[in-house]
Amino acid sequence: MYLLAIESSCDETAAAVVEDGRRVLSNIIASQIETHKLYGGVVPEIASRKHIEVINQVIDEALTESGKSLDDMEAICVTYGPGLVGALLVGVGAAKALAYAADKPLVGVHHIEGHISANYIAHEELEPPFICLVASGGHSNLVLVRDYGEYEVIGRTHDDAAGEAFDKVARAIGLGYPGGPKIDALAKEGDPTAIEFPRASIEGSVYDFSFSGVKSAVLNYLNAERMKQKVRADQEARTADEVHPESAMSYKYAGADDLAGINRADVAASFQAAVVDVLVSHTMLAAENLGIDKIALAGGVACNSALRSAMEEACAERKYRFFMPPPILCTDNAAMIGAAGYHEYLKGVRHGWDLNAVPDLKLG
Ligand code: KG4
Ligand code: ZN
Repeated sequence: MYLLAIESSCDETAAAVVEDGRRVLSNIIASQIETHKLYGGVVPEIASRKHIEVINQVIDEALTESGKSLDDMEAICVTYGPGLVGALLVGVGAAKALAYAADKPLVGVHHIEGHISANYIAHEELEPPFICLVASGGHSNLVLVRDYGEYEVIGRTHDDAAGEAFDKVARAIGLGYPGGPKIDALAKEGDPTAIEFPRASIEGSVYDFSFSGVKSAVLNYLNAERMKQKVRADQEARTADEVHPESAMSYKYAGADDLAGINRADVAASFQAAVVDVLVSHTMLAAENLGIDKIALAGGVACNSALRSAMEEACAERKYRFFMPPPILCTDNAAMIGAAGYHEYLKGVRHGWDLNAVPDLKLG
């Protein structure tokens, strides 16, 4: 069974053809990262417009590359939430138009269900039940996958998503957008034990997350270091002025407010270690308490090399089976929506022409 899948919830316009929910015949992704880089983050209005510009071409390419025609498709699947409303609407509109014109069933898919289902593509042998840590720019959820299409969210973030914290910290240390991959790369040159950043836990909800504390701790650390440097520079300048009053130097240092002298690689590595520690320990606690020995990773942050190896190690220690998709299936794509849509379709899910974008769609 072939499904055409469409994804446009954030800043990637994507379409894919997936066979039987596991085999990817095509997976076309038009990324808008270069555009949003200019603004340091995703600008919703621009995202919507860019989706409109390329969506038809992306869908055409997905069909051409798959070697199949629209007529070969059993149904059209599309992400209808959560995400940016204007961005989602472009995919939903395109899917509805195609489904109507070709007289095919329309299946709305939850974006997080898509991220989780990327694991079905990467691992033929994976079957529920398992626990999946979904960490992306918009979400940080610990999900118990009871069966295909049956989810229980057992942990969620109380403030920032993990990817959001990566992006904000990256900006604070002068790396561009998106910050996750840049912190990942810089952290390789740093010492993860150099600075002790907080590992937050929420009283009464042991699987939940909070990343705003670690983000603030990084900002406070940077400010404190800048102050120390300013005091040091002022002292040096005063000494220099006393020795050479004719070339008073102090004005040169008075505004020293940059990152020079701060070991950014240590900051990146230490921040990353704090986030990874929490993600891994909460996942392991859930697995132990629920008696589940299969763990999966999903979402853009699942590309993180430190998270991938820490989770792999923690699972190996406990003899749990560990699954993670390749990076290209971790960040937003439509193949994962086809994998999730397959099980929704088998369950009998069909949406009408009134399908709307739901920016805060709940899972489960
Ligand atoms: O899943 P995704 O493509 O979009 C959302 O659904 O949000 O995730 C994007 C997020 C961004 O915050 C990005 O910085 C983060 O995933 N990310 C990473 C890495 N690669 C992408 N975070 C940490 N390390 C990485 N290597
Ligand atoms: Zn996503």
